[in-house]
Amino acid sequence: METHILGVSEESLRLAKEYIAHGEVVAFHTETVYGLGANAFDDDAVLRVFSLKGRPADNPLIVHVHREYDISRLTDGEPSYAAALRRAFLPGPLTMVYPSEGKVSKYVSCGMNTLAIRVPSSPTAQAFLKAADLPVAAPSANLSKHVSPVTAQHVFDDFNGKIPLILDGGRCGGGIESTVLDCTGAIPQILREGLVTREMIAKIAGECGVYRPRSGERPKSPGMAYKHYAPRCKTAYFSAECLEKAITYYKNEVNTGTPCFLCESAVCALLKGYNTLDLGSSPEEMARRLYALLRKGEQQASLLIGIEPQQRGGVMAGVLNRMRRAFGVEHGTEEG
Ligand code: TXA
Ligand code: MG
Repeated sequence: METHILGVSEESLRLAKEYIAHGEVVAFHTETVYGLGANAFDDDAVLRVFSLKGRPADNPLIVHVHREYDISRLTDGEPSYAAALRRAFLPGPLTMVYPSEGKVSKYVSCGMNTLAIRVPSSPTAQAFLKAADLPVAAPSANLSKHVSPVTAQHVFDDFNGKIPLILDGGRCGGGIESTVLDCTGAIPQILREGLVTREMIAKIAGECGVYRPRSGERPKSPGMAYKHYAPRCKTAYFSAECLEKAITYYKNEVNTGTPCFLCESAVCALLKGYNTLDLGSSPEEMARRLYALLRKGEQQASLLIGIEPQQRGGVMAGVLNRMRRAFGVEHGTEEG
């Protein structure tokens, strides 16, 4: 199968609609990362998404809908805080988990009686969802465990020949996946940190918890158990206080390979003369650059040495979660 990369046009939307209606899988731009979409009502199409990615069968998918879609068609009730959050943050990078049973293919939520719903703000995603005119189940468009894609080329690198169409909307401005929020309990609870922060949610809902799976417990968001976002080269991870140690590690690699640091701008400035990939300075910049640099790193370096950024608060919770998991130092709050 040939994989076409097309921008939004009448013709590409017509093709996308046709593919989705016929059970094919279409990749599409969102404001966070690219998604790998299929008709959420179609068992075979949903199962195909799992097999294309090599995704574990117990890790549920998010259903994406356009902004005018009446989500009460997919859910069994909505707490009042969730209605307020929906009005405040959608369309946008917030995925809301609702009580829901039997509304879409049972494979979407892996048999659980909840459904994760997302209304992306990307104009490309909106045009696609409007054209498809169906709820679209979509995980991030990367092979399972690999770094999530923030350009059409990243999707192509993982799925060339496997899917017919990638709807190109340019580089994703957000850069890390949506916040996943459990809206089935008395207060909202973050299952995966992202661009909509705990502080932002608490401001609207009054309270907001962050779910941390206890050891031995089956996680609420099953993807939490998996290693993820991993670049395909050797990796090491150090705190900024241990920079000398990190430099020794780098020097040990130089004779046999190509080491490279991945760090925030302030640390890059201390590493003149060494190979570096610059994450930037602000939390939003680091979120936007992280995945592209992890993919660049795996292509250019034999050893990628992550230096943990020192900023905290807001979007940094999501950035640090993804970065630690990419470097295998935390079995954190997500997968897939
Ligand atoms: O930004 C995003 O969310 C991107 C774009 C494509 O929309 N999608 C994405 O999907 O990151 P994925 O499949 O890579 O991650 C979905 C996460 C997983 O951690 C999964 O376990 C969780 O959402 N999830 C999905 N349905 C759930 C449910 N019913 N209950 C709890 N967690 C759920
Ligand atoms: Mg994913």
